[in-house]
Amino acid sequence: ASYDETWRPQFHYTPAKNWMNDPNGMVYYKGKYHLFYQHNPKGDQFGNMSWGHAVSEDLIHWKELDVAMEPDENGMIFSGSVVVDEDNTSGLFQGDEGGLIAYYTSAGDVQDQRLAYSTDEGKTWTKYEGNPIVPNPGIKDFRDPVVMWHEDSEKWIMLLVAGDKVMFYGSDNMVDWSYLSEFGSDHGAHGGVWETPELFELPVDGNQDQKKWVLQVDMNPGSIAGGSGGQYFIGDFDGKEFKLDRGQTETKWTDYGKDFYATQAFNNMDKVIWIAWMSNWQYAADIPTSPWRGAMSLPREVSLTTNDRGEMLLTQQPVKELDDLRGEKLIEMENRTLDGSMSLPEFDERTYEIVATFRVDEADEFGFKVAQGEGEETIVGYDDQNNYLFTDRNNSGVTDFHPEFGGVFRAPMEAMDGYTIKLHIYVDESSVEVFGNNGQKVLTNQIFPSEGSDDLSIYSYGGNVTIESLEVYDLESMHE
Ligand code: FRU
Repeated sequence: ASYDETWRPQFHYTPAKNWMNDPNGMVYYKGKYHLFYQHNPKGDQFGNMSWGHAVSEDLIHWKELDVAMEPDENGMIFSGSVVVDEDNTSGLFQGDEGGLIAYYTSAGDVQDQRLAYSTDEGKTWTKYEGNPIVPNPGIKDFRDPVVMWHEDSEKWIMLLVAGDKVMFYGSDNMVDWSYLSEFGSDHGAHGGVWETPELFELPVDGNQDQKKWVLQVDMNPGSIAGGSGGQYFIGDFDGKEFKLDRGQTETKWTDYGKDFYATQAFNNMDKVIWIAWMSNWQYAADIPTSPWRGAMSLPREVSLTTNDRGEMLLTQQPVKELDDLRGEKLIEMENRTLDGSMSLPEFDERTYEIVATFRVDEADEFGFKVAQGEGEETIVGYDDQNNYLFTDRNNSGVTDFHPEFGGVFRAPMEAMDGYTIKLHIYVDESSVEVFGNNGQKVLTNQIFPSEGSDDLSIYSYGGNVTIESLEVYDLESMHE
């Protein structure tokens, strides 16, 4: 593939051709990051669901490998996870060599959880003879197993979704699983089916003595920006049950844009780095790209932080490895007062990064217009009257392939220390990812601008704003 087709992402993972949705089986193993994903190797629509496979040594440059698992006589291979069985706990490997174990949903007449193992770093997989390892208990939507080692109780834990709740199972040998508990009937948003759960422990504000557990669950439809999206819960997990922290009544949304779904973190790492499918089930089948359909988000490091108001929040920051893609510094500014609009002359870029710090003065609203051209723009702004960060893609280019694609998506966000707004923005050929105030709020959206829409401007409405600092970098392609 040449990876130079219209709208082909240059620093987000896409398969050379055909359909892709959820990231699956993400694991760091023998010096490589493995990304498996829901893939139709035979077409550019959902179907024949298989596990595609790509590897990377730096989280940025990905190499697509052969399809790892294809549908079998039991059904399609839906989402799931991969763990490292170091010491052959499962007994599925020879001697004490160990290998990789994949847990996935087999989607046949019913959905159940199955296991496969690999001795060649995930290239080929052998299905376990005793499948299913978790049979269907009579629940229609029963899928997306995620497996992890729970240090304190010295057990393997599996979580999966069942209708609109999460179920937990435990195992000593990675093969036999028993039911532990469930979570969700009384908590969170329930506008749709829950899908693709994820669970991990993180220090609060980097303090190793104060750790919390985060349970992230996706939901389709009914999410904050419409259609599919994610929510998360902060609490404790003792190896049996997830208990939500007291006082957490409002839904916490993972991302306020429309295109961040089915988030999964890499296993076998000492930090939490996750990736999501950058699309939405509302219109995923209609997006105008070819010969591929579906892209992954940037990898993001996830942390727990306490904000100015004492609330605990999940923050997401693009991984540092991305800095290696920086090319020329296109713009640099400091302490400039802006009142009105300023377009950046001779700017013609489709892949770049903006790092900006603003001081809120009298302006009611300010921000950037990216992917700007004849009658087109995508606005990334901060509304200081109503305190929200937003992306407006109503005039972003091709939007008419689905009535729910256009729109303005908003994340409530207060200025830091009362007056600072930080925006970190990644613009690729067909996406805009916005990290507000060090990743306290995030908006991920696809766009499909016309070929010439490659201008950039900065604006303020209703008074001036101070640009404390601004840097714009050209970003190189991962395909070079
Ligand atoms: C989430 C999802 C999962 C399922 C997979 C099928 O996007 O619906 O629940 O396993 O996609 O491709």
